[in-house]
Amino acid sequence: MTGAAARAAEFCVASLDALGRLEKLDALAGPLRRVVRGLPLGRYRDVLHGLPIGHPLHPALVQVPMGAWLSAAVLDAVPGTRRGARLLVGVGILTAGPAAWAGWVDWAEQHEEQMRTGLVHAASIAVAVGLYARSWVHRGRGHTVRGKVLGFAGLCAAGTGGMLGGHLAYRQAAGANKAEPVPHLLDGGWHPIGRVEDFPVGEAVRRELGEVPLLVVRLAGGHIHVLAGRCSHLSGPLTEGTVTDGCVVCPWHGSAFRLSDGANVRGPATAPQPSFQVSVDGEGTVRVRLPGAG
Ligand code: FES
Repeated sequence: MTGAAARAAEFCVASLDALGRLEKLDALAGPLRRVVRGLPLGRYRDVLHGLPIGHPLHPALVQVPMGAWLSAAVLDAVPGTRRGARLLVGVGILTAGPAAWAGWVDWAEQHEEQMRTGLVHAASIAVAVGLYARSWVHRGRGHTVRGKVLGFAGLCAAGTGGMLGGHLAYRQAAGANKAEPVPHLLDGGWHPIGRVEDFPVGEAVRRELGEVPLLVVRLAGGHIHVLAGRCSHLSGPLTEGTVTDGCVVCPWHGSAFRLSDGANVRGPATAPQPSFQVSVDGEGTVRVRLPGAG
């Protein structure tokens, strides 16, 4: 890419990045975050995070309203499809609700930069829903042209929101599994990490294996568990977390990971922690190995 196109792309990316630095948005983000975190969602909070499916639910849910609205736009260009187009506009409005719920609970457990971008993303989608609602009403009254214009405007707003969602997901890595690189940073062999007495019972101890921080916990029965030390949610330091009920709880947003196998039993993390095999030789040296590493 050269010339004007390159400059336009550069400007576009710089503008998107600038959203994450808009500190003025914090005045809104703080109270809103408290509200979302205080909602009595119980175990449904983890469902909305996407814990049962192993990755965030929000991107999957948004396919429905976006697909419906895009399809409505296609039908708007085809004669004799007014009823179908209005139906799809309505489907998009109705299904935007569940997608928004999932998005908000994820949003409330992110870094400041991601939350600022997330607010603009949510505002774009709210504008889209408003425009589509008016489009649906006008279509119902027979004002087809006005309904189509409003629908097209709604698609532009939804597209802008979608682009911001992509920026959040890929540039700002909100929702990505932060523990995914761990197996690629290690070789597949056994590595000594200390002696049994280096690990006080019940305490979270930090060790490093090359570039990878480890969480080491020796339980009362003598069993030693070793997990990757950076949380799969947003890289929180699990070595500063709380060890309780056979799990470690991340100090940043409260995800809980089972020490025995790294499974996440509570969100917002949706991916497990890499779990190491542990062996102790006759002289008390502790060695670890990550299956699948290398
Ligand atoms: S970094 Fe968010 S729960 Fe660990």
